[in-house]
Amino acid sequence: MKNTQAFPSADGLWTGLRLAPGAAPDVQLDDANASAAIVVEQGHIRWVGARAALPAAYAALPTHDGGGALVTPGLVDCHTHLVYGGRRANEFAMRLAGASYEEVAKAGGGIVSTVRATREASEDELFESAAARLQALLADGVCAIEIKSGYGLALGHERKQLRVARRLGEAFGVTVKTTFLGAHALPPEYAGRSADYIDLVCKEMLPALAAEGLVDAVDVFCERIAFSLAETEQVFQAAKALGLPVKLHAEQLSDMDGAALAARYGALSCDHIEHLSAKGIAEMKKAGTVAVLLPGAYYTLRDTHLPPIEALREAGVPMAVSTDHNPGTSPALSLLLMVNMACTLFRLTVPEAIAGVTQHAARALGLQDTHGRIAVGLPANFVLWKLSEAAELAYWFGQRPIHAVVRQGRVYFPSPSGNGQGEGMRP
Ligand code: NIG
Ligand code: FE
Repeated sequence: MKNTQAFPSADGLWTGLRLAPGAAPDVQLDDANASAAIVVEQGHIRWVGARAALPAAYAALPTHDGGGALVTPGLVDCHTHLVYGGRRANEFAMRLAGASYEEVAKAGGGIVSTVRATREASEDELFESAAARLQALLADGVCAIEIKSGYGLALGHERKQLRVARRLGEAFGVTVKTTFLGAHALPPEYAGRSADYIDLVCKEMLPALAAEGLVDAVDVFCERIAFSLAETEQVFQAAKALGLPVKLHAEQLSDMDGAALAARYGALSCDHIEHLSAKGIAEMKKAGTVAVLLPGAYYTLRDTHLPPIEALREAGVPMAVSTDHNPGTSPALSLLLMVNMACTLFRLTVPEAIAGVTQHAARALGLQDTHGRIAVGLPANFVLWKLSEAAELAYWFGQRPIHAVVRQGRVYFPSPSGNGQGEGMRP
C-alpha cells in the first residue's frame, strides 16, 4: 500500500495561477489573464476567482505559490482496461505484417490471449503491473479514472480484476470508477455457446459482483467478433434490474445499431463509435449520452474510418476523449497524448479536446457533480501546468509539462527523473 497521507495537504490559499478557459465555469474574470486564486479547505474547494477579489478572511491562510502556472481541472480518463496480465507486442508485429484486428482475434490472439495471462496472474501481480501503468497516467494529471474488467471472463477472475481496481483507488488516492465488462469476449470454454455465457454473465457474475460493491457500471463489446445486439440488450436488462448504469463499446468496426440501443437504456456513454449512424447520434442526443472518442485505438489499428465528429458537434452530443488503455489496441499511457491525437487525427478544437478529458469525461462516468471542473464545494482536483496558454496542452507531445497536481486534496510534484514511471511523483 502506498501512503497518500505522506503527501502534503493542499489546504490553504493557492495564488499565482491563471485559469485555463472553461476550467472554472462559474467564475467570470474581467481579464482572462488575471491572476487567480483557489482556496482549499479540508480537501475541498472553498473559493475560486480573481486574486484581486479574494475575500479578506482567506488572505492570511498558508499560501501555495503557483508561480504563474496555467490551471485546469484534474484530468479524467473515462475508458481504460488498466488491469490485465501480459502484453501483446507480438500482435502489433502481426498487424504490421498485414493482419487485421479481427484476423488476429480469430487466430487465437486478441482479447482471449490477455484472458489467459490475466487468469494466470495473482491479484497481487495484477495490482503491481497495473500500479506502474496507473502512475504513468497520474503523472499526466489524471485525478479520476475508469477501470473495466473483461479479461477474466469467469466470476473469480473478473472479481480479481475489479478488486485490484478498487485497491488502486485507495492506494493512490485517485477516484476509480469500476465497470463490469464480463461480455467482452467469449471465453474459450464457452466456444459455440454464446447464449450460455451471456446467461452466466447476467444471472451469476453480474449479480454476485454487484452485491460485493465491485460494480459502478456495466459495459458490453457489441461487435461482429464479440456480442450481438440481442445479447447486449440482455446484459443491459440485467444491469437495469440491479439499478446499474450502462455504457457500450459501440460501432468500432461496424454499425451494429448498438449506440441507439444503449441510449434507450440511458447509457452514460457510447465509446469508439467510428461507424456511428445518424440514428445513433439522434438517440444519444435525446438520452444525454456522452460520445467517448478513443484516438489511441484508432491510431494503433491504423483505422481510416473517422468517427462522425462534425455530426456529433452539430447535434450537440458531448464528446469525451480517453486513452482506452489496453494491451491490444491502445497501449497508451498518456491522456495528454490523446488530447493531441484527438486534435490532429479527429480534428477536435483545443477547447473541445480539453473539455473531452475534463467535464465531458466526468459526465461519461456519472461524476459531473464532483469532477471535471474547478468549483466551490468540489473535492480539490486540479493541475498546475508549466505552460503559457491552453493550446499548448494539445500542441506538445512526449513531455509532461506539470508543475504540480492537486488530487483529492493532496499535492504531488513530478519526480526529478521526470519520466512519469515508478513513483512518478514526489512529496
Ligand atoms: O476498447 N474493443 C474492445 N475492447 C478493447 C480492446 C481489447 C483488446 O484488444 O484487448 C478496446 O479497444
Ligand atoms: Fe475499450
